[in-house]
Amino acid sequence: MSKEINNIAVFTSGGDAPGMNAAIRAVVRTSIFYNKKIFGIYRGYEGMIEGDIEELDARSVGNIIQRGGTILKSARSDEFRTKEGRQKAYENLKEKGIDALVAIGGDGTFTGLHNFYLEHKMPVICIPGTIDNDLPGTDFTIGYDTATNTVVDAVDKIRDTALSHNRLFFIEVMGRDSGYIAINSGIAGGAAAIIIPEDEMTIDELVAKLDKGVESKKSSSLVVVAEGGKLGNALQIAEEVHKRFPYYDTKVTILGHLQRGGSPTYFDRVLASKMGVYAVEGIMAGKTDVMVGIQNGITVYNDFESTMVKNHEIEPEALRISKILSI
Ligand code: F6P
Repeated sequence: MSKEINNIAVFTSGGDAPGMNAAIRAVVRTSIFYNKKIFGIYRGYEGMIEGDIEELDARSVGNIIQRGGTILKSARSDEFRTKEGRQKAYENLKEKGIDALVAIGGDGTFTGLHNFYLEHKMPVICIPGTIDNDLPGTDFTIGYDTATNTVVDAVDKIRDTALSHNRLFFIEVMGRDSGYIAINSGIAGGAAAIIIPEDEMTIDELVAKLDKGVESKKSSSLVVVAEGGKLGNALQIAEEVHKRFPYYDTKVTILGHLQRGGSPTYFDRVLASKMGVYAVEGIMAGKTDVMVGIQNGITVYNDFESTMVKNHEIEPEALRISKILSI
């Protein structure tokens, strides 16, 4: 039987994502609901190594459900990649009497935590928080919905100016090496073409597609480009296209970090709230070295290893639909 857990610590790590605060709030309040002590670790693994840890209460997480970013701050730590760094972190946690960890982050966070678990056997659980939606084992990660809505809003605005000047816009979106944000914001924003790492088209194919649009009297064209593609970034693609398509007035917008900010959508707040509750209940029930996920409405706990080996695959239907509708 697993040892009873009394003192839990929560932290955020890697790139922040809208909805992380809602997840922190849920973890804190669920822990208190079940009469556990709950600590916040600031600046992810950096704070764990430096002992930047503080006990939280239900009021510490008041008025944060609607806020983007993370009140616990986030960082990427090189020291935690080392055995010595993880040992230091373990000693700080033990000193505070912490006996379980809840991490909110992406695959980099999981890798660190998995190694920590193998070395120290402290129960650990992860909540998927990243705008990229690149983790298998959950239909959605916290922050993806908000980021995609932010992109769609930007695409709509760019369309207004593109139409007014008959311009061809290349809009680069985040996602690291995943095309999730690009494919769905491209469909929702009515893009003429969507370039994603999972289904790369050549420059010739892209030009042929855009040419068809001109022939069928399209007065503006928006191309959504995922940042991680092999064809290059939006600037490079735009330059290549311009060489072959000089009669088009070409512009590039890189949306960048604005995709990471802003108030989380209702969807991300509810997702984060559910996952926060399930993470604490999972760890109390003896689940460890797992990521909480929600698939087809069902709560699942997947081994870290299975979530780290591959990317969350783009639905083939999304690809098919985008091709039909962008003629
Ligand atoms: O993983 C989230 C993400 O925003 C990616 O989409 C992007 O490639 C990366 O983080 C940017 O990282 P940083 O904020 O360190 O520049």
